[in-house]
Amino acid sequence: MLVRLKNFVKHQLSAQIKIRTKHKIYYRQWERRAQESIEAIRESIKGTNYAKEQALQWLVSEKITNHSFSLLDVGCGPGLMRAVLERHPLFATNVRYTGVDQSEAAINFAKSEFAGKGVFQRLDIEYDELPTNPFDVIMINGVIEHTGGYKKLIDKCLKLKPKIFILSTFAVTHRVSANRLRWNPSGDCFMNIYPFADIYKHLRENIDGAIFISTFGPGKYNPEDYWFPHRGGCLFYCRLYTENRLMVTDQKNPPSLD
Ligand SMILES: C[S@@+](CC[C@H](N)C(=O)[O-])C[C@H]1O[C@@H](n2cnc3c(N)ncnc32)[C@H](O)[C@@H]1O
Repeated sequence: MLVRLKNFVKHQLSAQIKIRTKHKIYYRQWERRAQESIEAIRESIKGTNYAKEQALQWLVSEKITNHSFSLLDVGCGPGLMRAVLERHPLFATNVRYTGVDQSEAAINFAKSEFAGKGVFQRLDIEYDELPTNPFDVIMINGVIEHTGGYKKLIDKCLKLKPKIFILSTFAVTHRVSANRLRWNPSGDCFMNIYPFADIYKHLRENIDGAIFISTFGPGKYNPEDYWFPHRGGCLFYCRLYTENRLMVTDQKNPPSLD
């Protein structure tokens, strides 16, 4: 508890003084890339990562995804997940996709790149209301670690009563890297301050269904697919349409419902 408090204060302080480092801190990441060239953003939607792939693998086993289903991507950036879905043989056509993000550059890019293939809306996921249409699946990938608090955001998503809620979050072990990863509109750094176990506890307290967890870290993924080689992550896959409260750690396939 004391160590967590110390880490939290340390990160808050370093965020306030914007870290004295020779490295420039970029917090308007998509705006900066858009300024470089639109190709810099297009390049970023070509990639994928472990959390996205594993989440899709689990989604394949859900009955709801046999037919057209709706999906809300919270903190969608320029549509990285939209692009991954488009390349997927099962999900290329049957997803009714909505993406929300605070970045004007990212949302503008997504609107033109995926015209007719989804709804993209610019909003602040911490302070604004999320779209209220019913969503079968809500996902939030690599975003909570850039926000001032994850509990309110998770509660906001769960209030929309999705059948599946997917959340992945990352930590990096290199302090300078952590401090440069500022994606939120305020430019503050929240990387590495939300322990995976605390996030699980909050999910467990608020979800009656099954929660599947897959952790991943150095060595288990292609280091080229992300910027920093030293990182770890956790994927929480929550199935809310069953009373089964099973929790499985590091399970590659969720048990079937039968
Ligand atoms: C590391 S990127 C992840 C993008 C995407 N979800 C993915 O899976 O690749 C973090 C995203 O969160 C967005 N973000 C951070 N804070 C936000 C906020 N308060 N409101 C809306 N979007 C936010 C950023 O603009 C950025 O697109």
